[in-house]
Amino acid sequence: MAEKATQRLDKMLAHIGIGTRKEIKKLVKEKRVTVNGELAKDPGMHVSPDRDQIRVDGQAVEYRVYIYLMMNKPQGVISATEDGLSEVVIDLLEPQHSAFHPFPVGRLDKDTEGLLLLTNDGKLAHQLLSPKKHVPKTYYAVIRGTVTEADAEAFRAGVVLDDGYRTLPGELTILRSGPESEIELTIYEGKYHQVKRMFEAVGKQVTYLKRIAMGPLALDETLEPGEYRELTDEEVAMLRG
Ligand code: URA
Repeated sequence: MAEKATQRLDKMLAHIGIGTRKEIKKLVKEKRVTVNGELAKDPGMHVSPDRDQIRVDGQAVEYRVYIYLMMNKPQGVISATEDGLSEVVIDLLEPQHSAFHPFPVGRLDKDTEGLLLLTNDGKLAHQLLSPKKHVPKTYYAVIRGTVTEADAEAFRAGVVLDDGYRTLPGELTILRSGPESEIELTIYEGKYHQVKRMFEAVGKQVTYLKRIAMGPLALDETLEPGEYRELTDEEVAMLRG
């Protein structure tokens, strides 16, 4: 949908998460908002986000439509915008980010950690999720059972899941092999519980799962579980391809 050429100042500032309409009215009253260098007197004045320079407390307001966030999803939180019972990833966002109504791009299980992209850019989300695009997703996992080269060979050939579906070839790297193994696995599709079910298909169990990459985007390892940051312009450009 095209953005309106002009809109109410309070509505525009609320839309980008500066505060509620009421809070913005107060900011205007306190003479903390300027439009093109002039004090804003009326919170209902019309402004053009493209042409007008708006400042709050002297800081230029960046008007934008889309937001792109990278989260290190913690365990115990659902990858959804709402859920009647459990905490969802949107609950972890600051108001200035949730104001843009981002949604998670794809799902990670409740007990899975790691890279989750959140955006309100439906076109980009669709590109990343389209089954036709085969966007690679890489996971780090701890496995109960000794993972061997035979498993890597089986994943390369594609394994048959419990519902009879044969997976596309996946690339398995064994980091440590023993009664408890550590691996990295790259897959090019996103079936329900796919990584867990692939290991079940070779008689092993995933005990810890973390997504570390999606397409060209790698998890920023400085993010603790539950933390997130905005993508850089370069990362967004890379994702668009
Ligand atoms: N595969 C799984 O089994 N779980 C996830 O959360 C992601 C991939």
